[in-house]
Amino acid sequence: MNLQTNRILLRPWRESDAETLFKYASDTEVGPRAGWPPHKSVEESMNIIRTVFSVDTMWAVEWKETGEAIGCVGYLPASASNLKIADDQCEVGYWIARPYWGKGICTEALQLVVDYCFHEKGFSVLWGDYFPENPASGRVMEKCGFVDTGEEVLCPNLEVGADRPVKVMKLEKK
Ligand SMILES: CC(C)(COP(=O)(O)OP(=O)(O)OC[C@H]1O[C@@H](n2cnc3c(N)ncnc32)[C@H](O)[C@@H]1OP(=O)(O)O)[C@@H](O)C(=O)NCCC(=O)NCCS
Repeated sequence: MNLQTNRILLRPWRESDAETLFKYASDTEVGPRAGWPPHKSVEESMNIIRTVFSVDTMWAVEWKETGEAIGCVGYLPASASNLKIADDQCEVGYWIARPYWGKGICTEALQLVVDYCFHEKGFSVLWGDYFPENPASGRVMEKCGFVDTGEEVLCPNLEVGADRPVKVMKLEKK
C-alpha cells in the first residue's frame, strides 16, 4: 500500500532504483549509523532491492519533485525484530540520503508508517532503537511521539555495531 504527503510518496522499491540506491547507500555516514555497511556496488544495491526490500513492510521514500528514491522506511514484525517484543508489536527503521537531511523528511515518513502500523495493521506498541552517538535518529522518533524507555540493549544481528548498545524507544497506541 502506498502512503503519501504533499512532498513524499512511500512506495515499493523497484529494480530501476538500484543506481540511486547505490548513490545514497554507499555513503559511509548512512548505513553504519543504522547497523549496516555502505553498499559497494550497484549490483549489491540491486540484490538488496530484490531481497531485503522486496517485502511489504518496507517502502522507498520517493521525493515527488524528482521521482527519486531518497530513503527507506519500514517496520520489522516481532519475528524479525532486533528486540524481544510481542507478536502484536513491531520495530520501525529508516534512513534518508544525506543531501536531504534536516528537512523533516524522515519525521514525515515515519509518521506515515506509525499511522499505518496502528490503524491498518492493528499493532498495539511500536519500538525503535538507535545508537546514542546518533541523536538525530532519537529525535525523529521523539517527534513522532516515541518515549525513551531508558533501556539500552545489544542487537547481535546487526552487521555494524553489534557490540555497541542501542537506546530503546517505545510508542503505545493511544
Ligand atoms: C537520522 C536520519 C534518519 C534523520 O533524517 P532527517 O530527514 O534529517 O530527520 P528530520 O529532519 O525529520 O529530523 C531530524 C531531527 O534531528 C535533529 N538533529 C540533527 N542532528 C542532531 C544532533 N546531532 N543532535 C540532536 N538532534 C539532531 C534535527 O534538528 C531534527 O530535529 P528538529 O526538527 O527538532 O530540529 C538521517 O540523518 C539518517 O538517515 N541518518 C543515517 C541513518 C540512520 O541514522 N538511520 C536511523 C538508524 S536508528
